[in-house]
Amino acid sequence: MGTKVKVGIIGLGFMGTTHYHIHQKLGKSEIIAVADVDEKKLNGDWSSVVGNIGDTDYSKPIDMSSIKTYTDAMDLINNREVEMVDICLPTHLHEKFVIAAIKKGKHVLCEKPVGRTLIEAKRITEEAERSNKFFMNGLCVRHWPEYRHAWELYKSGKLGKLISATFKRVSPSSHDNSWNDWFMNSDMSGGALLDLHLHDTDLVRYFFGRPSSVTSFGVGGFRSDKGIDHLFTNYDFNDGTLIMAEGGWDPAKNTPFEMSFQIVCEEGTIRLSETGYQIMYEDGKTEAPEPAKENLPTGWHVEIDYFISSILDEKQPDKYLTTAEMRDSIAIIEAEELSIKEKRTVKIEY
Ligand SMILES: NC(=O)c1ccc[n+]([C@@H]2O[C@H](COP(=O)([O-])OP(=O)(O)OC[C@H]3O[C@@H](n4cnc5c(N)ncnc54)[C@H](O)[C@@H]3O)[C@@H](O)[C@H]2O)c1
Repeated sequence: MGTKVKVGIIGLGFMGTTHYHIHQKLGKSEIIAVADVDEKKLNGDWSSVVGNIGDTDYSKPIDMSSIKTYTDAMDLINNREVEMVDICLPTHLHEKFVIAAIKKGKHVLCEKPVGRTLIEAKRITEEAERSNKFFMNGLCVRHWPEYRHAWELYKSGKLGKLISATFKRVSPSSHDNSWNDWFMNSDMSGGALLDLHLHDTDLVRYFFGRPSSVTSFGVGGFRSDKGIDHLFTNYDFNDGTLIMAEGGWDPAKNTPFEMSFQIVCEEGTIRLSETGYQIMYEDGKTEAPEPAKENLPTGWHVEIDYFISSILDEKQPDKYLTTAEMRDSIAIIEAEELSIKEKRTVKIEY
């Protein structure tokens, strides 16, 4: 292993180009190869990519002269020089390319969700567990500075017993330039339930462990073909706490993106909302920490920095997310889907 990890990115859409810029900015990796079915992107024309992390200008062509480009992602995986494959493909394609990359002995970072279904998630994570290289799923909200800070504070026990927790993630389905409009095809994306709400389901798992059952309500078929567009879930831990999450991509195009949470404990309340990130203690004291670091402003930066550093330090990247937890979150999502469909509380089979 050199001083920089040699990376190949598969899929140069919103996430692949975001990862590209983060790798460049962190300086711990070198992008030596990219793959995409869109030849314009391979030639450096990224002007069709919607959304970026603010400091990038896609109107100018990207210099691809030192990067190997492939229209067949298997050729990138077969490139012996690539040490880490960063998979940013539409969700239904994750399994095929993640398993191929793991089998070729690569370290693999794969965007969330780990797979389109629980069966796929199991096949992927079992393959990853057999590998002597590293695998991580990009559940970036676990790494988002405010969420990480809240997790550390909650887990420290300083706030005492949990009373209630609510998580919310609602945005328009702003995926105008996505590949073949795949987000609105629920066989490919899993609808807002899997694609968007997974982050909060996974946070419930991250903060509080495994719920025993879920009761969900949802509507679908408005934005996506037949997937869930908006839902509410109650997660039951059989301990008297109230834990809820709401997720949806049904609002009109210009509706602002909202991600928020509130965790109420006996000694204080942690809250992320439009008024910022705050901790209100029962004794009346309020704190407003700013946990984001200048060079690691988002969870995507923290996540990629953590994975690359794990490879360089030869340390298993399972401090914040295990393969078992990746499977659990998809199992909970599938229970939520069944609960909506059958209008009943569903016990979760892990
Ligand atoms: N972590 C997050 O916050 C976050 C946000 C958005 C999307 N995502 C996830 O990232 C993944 C990608 O989403 P996106 O928004 O970048 O999608 P996108 O549609 O913008 O990009 C997908 C890219 O893959 C390419 N592609 C399609 N089939 C291919 C193939 N067979 N071989 C090579 N390239 C191929 C397309 O040409 C396109 O450039 C999804 O799993 C999505 O759920 C995560």
